[in-house]
Amino acid sequence: MSKKKVVISGINSGIGYATALIFAKEGYVVYGLDLASEVNPSLALKIKTLGSVLNYASCDVSDNEQVAAYFGSLNIEINVLVNNAGILGPRIKTEEYPKDAFDSIIDVNVKGVFYMTKHGLPHLNKQGGSSIVNVASVAGLIGMSKHIAYSASKHAVVGMTKTLALEYAKVGIRVNAVCPGFTDTSMVENAQLEIDYINGLKYSTPLKRFGEAEEIAAGIFYLASSNASFITGQCLTIDGGLTAQ
Ligand SMILES: NC(=O)c1ccc[n+]([C@@H]2O[C@H](COP(=O)([O-])OP(=O)(O)OC[C@H]3O[C@@H](n4cnc5c(N)ncnc54)[C@H](O)[C@@H]3O)[C@@H](O)[C@H]2O)c1
Repeated sequence: MSKKKVVISGINSGIGYATALIFAKEGYVVYGLDLASEVNPSLALKIKTLGSVLNYASCDVSDNEQVAAYFGSLNIEINVLVNNAGILGPRIKTEEYPKDAFDSIIDVNVKGVFYMTKHGLPHLNKQGGSSIVNVASVAGLIGMSKHIAYSASKHAVVGMTKTLALEYAKVGIRVNAVCPGFTDTSMVENAQLEIDYINGLKYSTPLKRFGEAEEIAAGIFYLASSNASFITGQCLTIDGGLTAQ
């Protein structure tokens, strides 16, 4: 029997990296995309050690032509598409929020999901059992002060998830999202958030910590697996209880 195949965007770091590993451990052939010309060597080594296969391509998900060319050259049927690549942008109140930053965040987080899905859908197996998992955020469910673009983008991802679920249920493609709370990845590390703000976020999370990338990847894998065969159009919130309050 041929191995299942997954396409994952943003695999060189954080949640995408952990997601690539969990799919590889479960026997999938991983097709990974990211901005860099080369795959993260530690990920390549780990996947090789698992005896699995990683096919890497450099591709900017916010560029429709690049995404079309990527899928155009992909001569295979895939079982799972994980739209994970995303950016946070600066933490600035709205009246001072730079238009360029707003545009870039929408380009990657919203248009990127649209381009990947539009060009990926013809490759998804339509005999039942295949699925798309979008990586949204708690910022797609509740407001996030000083992150107007990120919040808009992740609400859009939740909306696209529900719409796609309705459109593709009839051909057996389930479409869901994960909504992570703050997760320990380079996205949060590079945001240079003030220590008081970080401590405040941890304090206001009932489990009193940030999530780990592996905890989000486990949710992504669950939604893609046959254990979630009756789940579509849903958002799985993985946030240590943040939005339960
Ligand atoms: N870390 C968090 O707290 C958190 C919380 C909620 C949601 N998320 C979401 O999780 C996803 C992954 O984020 P992460 O925390 O792992 O961040 P990360 O910065 O560690 O990883 C993101 C990866 O996406 C890649 N990427 C960025 N722009 C791209 C583009 N245009 N084309 C292709 N690849 C691109 C980056 O190079 C990087 O490898 C994002 O969609 C993010 O919004 C993260």
